[in-house]
Amino acid sequence: MDLMEKLVKLENEAKESIEKAKTIEELRELTIRYLGRKSSLTEIMKSMKTISKELRPQVGKKANEVKTKIENLLNKKEEQIEENIFLNLKETEWVDITEPGERFEKGHLHPITIMRMEVEDIFTSMGFAIVSGPEIELDYYNFEALNIPQDHPARDMQDTIWTKDGSLLRTHTSCVQIRTMEKFRPPIRAIAPGRVFRYEETDASHEHTFYQVEGLMIDKNISVANLIAVMKTMLREVFGRDVKVRLRPGYFPFVEPGFELDINCLICGGEGCPVCKRSGWVELLPCGMVHPNVLKAGNIDPDEYSGFAFGMGLDRLVMMRYGIDDIRLFHSGDLRFLEQF
Ligand code: DAH
Repeated sequence: MDLMEKLVKLENEAKESIEKAKTIEELRELTIRYLGRKSSLTEIMKSMKTISKELRPQVGKKANEVKTKIENLLNKKEEQIEENIFLNLKETEWVDITEPGERFEKGHLHPITIMRMEVEDIFTSMGFAIVSGPEIELDYYNFEALNIPQDHPARDMQDTIWTKDGSLLRTHTSCVQIRTMEKFRPPIRAIAPGRVFRYEETDASHEHTFYQVEGLMIDKNISVANLIAVMKTMLREVFGRDVKVRLRPGYFPFVEPGFELDINCLICGGEGCPVCKRSGWVELLPCGMVHPNVLKAGNIDPDEYSGFAFGMGLDRLVMMRYGIDDIRLFHSGDLRFLEQF
């Protein structure tokens, strides 16, 4: 067989086997077989020098053609096989990378947490420290030291959740006042945000578990004027505008005098509307001048020092700012509610 016939035969053979190939691995083998160092094509090309001068150009040309043809066939087949692999993938085995991504739900802070952090920032900027106390509290801190002795009518047994060993779930954050006075000496400027508990039926404005921010400022010559100034600063920051306040007398055993602090109704601006019951004022928080007995319990001399305290309902503040009408929504876990913040 002369070289030309050999080349034609080689070409046909290669074409046939490449056509039959089904996998990329098979193609790799065929590449080696037909184009590799030990392939007959390579051998023919190597032996070119020994061929007669007349035949050389013809055989050389053919050999190159065959080589290019085989290479092309191999490439085409490889593309085909790859395309088949892709087309035969099951639904679950492939990803369309051009499809837009899925929005995934990120968690976010609870509205009460948002408000707590804001209030903390506001008071920190006025030089207040952030302090805390335990949620399971002793009778002493929750009542006794706050000028509410054993037989005091302000101890409504109905309202307190007691533990079996005689401790209680704190009914307010006022206990942290005493703990703070035990730890720090005046001048004291501190707020204590925290969770409090009551043994109570729930309704739109009552929860068994809610949040308060206790405030305490003790120094020489602290007066009601300081109380009002601090409250007005805080409210201006929270509501983003100047808020009018007024004090009404209120009774709490741990302050003397005690007040209810009202703000002008933010819905009607003081004109009178259903929210403020046409009065133009909304009750915001109780406060007062720290009772001498409480200062004494905190080992502070009431003749030398005075101070104010307040107990703000954090839930109420959030409700006012966002116009929320049911306190129970906060713990409902209802995403339709939570997603709004
Ligand atoms: N601890 C009171 C309560 O939960 C609120 C309170 C009233 C706190 C007057 C105060 C205050 O600091 O001065 O009902």
